This record gives sequence, structure tokens and C-alpha cells, in this order.
Amino acid sequence: MFPADTYIKRRKRLIDDVKSGVILFLGNDESPMNYPANPYHFRQDSSFSYFFGLDLPGLAAVIDVDQARITVFGDDVTVEDIVWTGPLPTLRENCRKIGVENTAPSAQLENILKSAVRNNRKIHFLPPYRPENILKLQRLLGVQPDQAKSRASVPLIKAVVAQRSIKSAREVEQIETALEVSYLTHTYAFKNAKPGMYEWEIVGGMDDIVHSRGMTASFPIIFTIKGQTLHNHYHGNIMQAGNIAINDSGIESPLHYASDITRTIPIGGKFTDRQKEIYRIVLDCNTKAIDACKPGIEFRAVHALVARTVLAGLKDVGLVQGDLEEAFHAHAHTLFFPHGLGHMLGLDVHDMEDLGEDYVGYTDAIKRRPEFGWAYLRLAKALEPGHIVTIEPGIYFIPELIDRWHADKKCESFINYQKLLAYKDFGGIRIEDDVLVTEDGRRLLGQPIPKTIEDVQNLSS
Ligand code: GLY
Ligand code: MN
Ligand code: MN
Repeated sequence: MFPADTYIKRRKRLIDDVKSGVILFLGNDESPMNYPANPYHFRQDSSFSYFFGLDLPGLAAVIDVDQARITVFGDDVTVEDIVWTGPLPTLRENCRKIGVENTAPSAQLENILKSAVRNNRKIHFLPPYRPENILKLQRLLGVQPDQAKSRASVPLIKAVVAQRSIKSAREVEQIETALEVSYLTHTYAFKNAKPGMYEWEIVGGMDDIVHSRGMTASFPIIFTIKGQTLHNHYHGNIMQAGNIAINDSGIESPLHYASDITRTIPIGGKFTDRQKEIYRIVLDCNTKAIDACKPGIEFRAVHALVARTVLAGLKDVGLVQGDLEEAFHAHAHTLFFPHGLGHMLGLDVHDMEDLGEDYVGYTDAIKRRPEFGWAYLRLAKALEPGHIVTIEPGIYFIPELIDRWHADKKCESFINYQKLLAYKDFGGIRIEDDVLVTEDGRRLLGQPIPKTIEDVQNLSS
């Protein structure tokens, strides 16, 4: 964990920002895979981690904002527990490390909250996403499960988002630690993915690199020759010479900060001319978008820059035609680039998505657009120093989407469907990097991972 002072300062600012009432933070519990004693790998709730740093199941915390009193609830292990777990620090010992003096057994949480409710105190909680915590809110506060998200506290969400969005030097360091391992997994995949292998052989090799450094993946690895499916987690295809494999993978640092990098690998070591044409456009989008990042620029403008670059590039290839500005306003790019350019990165890969993307990426003045493609843009608001964002343009040829648009004659004057039909077996290309917004511009985080056609081909075999 970080030094206690970090957590003390974060909680103090939270109290200042929320102003009054009682804040309830529910940490995560163990989550059973198939029976309770066989749980998934434990992952603490990210906001609990941010304010309390304790990477343990079964904890909750209450901040009485009016009295600036902070209590962490949990249970010490019994002798019977120790038979299975070995001796563990007490809650009091753990809390000292994060600057919290008051601790109490879990059983007291219910009484304290019920008395706060009786006294008409406002109870702030964040939107829950785990079933256990949804049920706890029902038991502790009488919140019906189907209302647990809508009754979350907007002032608390906004206060948490405001703090977590601006990364400190220590947090940047954590993400760069994750990126050191991303460098290793990505260069490993370039060097080792060969015709005749199953995708899972490369996924297994990357897993080894991550786990042998005591770390874990920040999300299930996307490694696929069918990259036209954006979140394809199947790893059972045999790679053939001439395929392109998308490797979208990330690492969690020791303090659970994420990296998120995508590279596209020519299986057999060489891109075809057709692949090179599309790859160059995506790389151009990636570098232009990174160069555009600076304080004050709205991320939706960077997304639009990429959308226009996709259209211009595809016009050169002959897949797009007509007036490019008109094509952009008709959303023709969304056939090829249906997702958003990027998202914030931090303790979560899609940072704070559980708190509500519109609180993280939008403002009262900048609202999410409803159209296909634009609706998936997770971040639209102006960038600020301390934001860490991903830049992840891609071009995909999704057969079902092409067929649907073609049948509907959608954007017919802007898309050369006759030529496009020959691309239905192409797959997809994505190139993703992680970028810190600085006072005067941006810094690409981590050791650069090869991405030019020449560098990528030199590394691949
Ligand atoms: N790894 C999912 C994403 O890039 O957003
Ligand atoms: Mn990614
Ligand atoms: Mn991403």
C-alpha cells in the first residue's frame, strides 16, 4: 500500500467535498467459483482501495462526515480460522497502516447505520456491482436491490470521480510498473506467435510472464485472429500465415493499477499489402490522437479527429467515397470504427466505470450522443493534467454489420460496398497506448512498444 498519509489526505478531501451525512464504503467479499471455499482470485473494490488501501475481503468503512470520524468494520481471525489461514494481522494493526484509529466488528455496522437512518442522516453510498453488496445494502439500509444503483449518492460519486481522475506521481509510477510487464508480454507475443499454433499457447506464455512476476491481468486477455469482434475472449483458433492477431492485454500493478495496450501481429512475420494499407491508417490515427492530447482539448474532438482520419484513409484505399465532411456527419466511419477512442485508466481498466461512465467522461454541458458508435465513447470531456487515458483507434470489417448496412443501403453514397464485400474476411486492426496528460501536453507512458510496420515485422516471425 501507499504510506498512510496518502489515504489520510484522500479521506480528508472526501470529507470536505461531501460536506455532510454518513458515507458507507463496502469492500468486496470473496466470490465463490463453484462452492464457497473455492473462490475466484480476490479483487478489492477500487474505491475502497483508493481510500482505505486494505487488500482484504470482508471489510466496510463508515465516515461520519459531520464529525470527521472514520471507522473500519471487519473481523479478526479466530483460532479455528488460523488453522486454515495461518496467523494474520488484526484489523486494528491493519488500520494503523492506513491512518485509521477506530475499528469495530462487522456485527456493529448494522446498528450504527440503522441509528443513522433513524436520525434522518443522509447515507451516501456508491453504486454497487457485486450481488453480495447489493444484498448488504438491502439488509443494512433497506434499499431494494433493483434500486441500489439509482439510490447511490450523486455527491459522493462526483467527489470520488474528482479525486480518482487526477493521478498522483505515485499512481503514475504504478501504471508504469504495469507497463514494464506489458512491454514483456507484447514483445513475447510478437516473437512467439507463429503459424500452426493455437492462440491459447501465446495467451499461456503471456500469463506466465505476468504471474511469474507476482502480478495478474487487468482484464481477460483478448488475443485473437478474429479481431473484428471487439471483445473476443476465445483463444481456440489455429493461427495461419497471413492472419493478423489482435493482442489487447493489460497488467495490474502490485497496488492494482492497470495497463491496457493493444498491438496487431502479422502471423508469419509479414503484413500483406492490403493489411499494410489499413494498418497505416490505424497507426496514423494512433499517433495523431496521442499528439493531440493536451490540457483543455475535449476528448470527443480527438475522437472526431480519428474518425475523420479513418474516413480519409479509407477513401485513399477506395472503400469510402464522396465528400468526407458529409460522410463524417452521416457517421459513415462507425461502420469501420464503431467504438470510442479511449477511456480513463487507473485502478480499473475502464476507470470508475462502476460509478457511471457519464460522471467520469461527460459533464452537464457535454452529453453522450445517442448514435451508434458515438454512444460507445466512454470519455468526451476536456482533458486535464493528471488524466491518464488510453488511445485505441481501430478499423474492423465486421461481416454482419457490413451486410446489415449494405441491405439497409446505409451511407450508400459514402461507402463503396462492391469493394468492401471483398474485405469481409479481413478481421480487425487496433493499436492502443496509455497516455498521461501533463501541464504542457502529454507523455506516452511506459517503454515504447514497437508499432511501426517495419518494427513490428522485424520482431514477428
Ligand atoms: N481492453 C478493453 C479496452 O481496451 O477497452
Ligand atoms: Mn485494451
Ligand atoms: Mn482500452
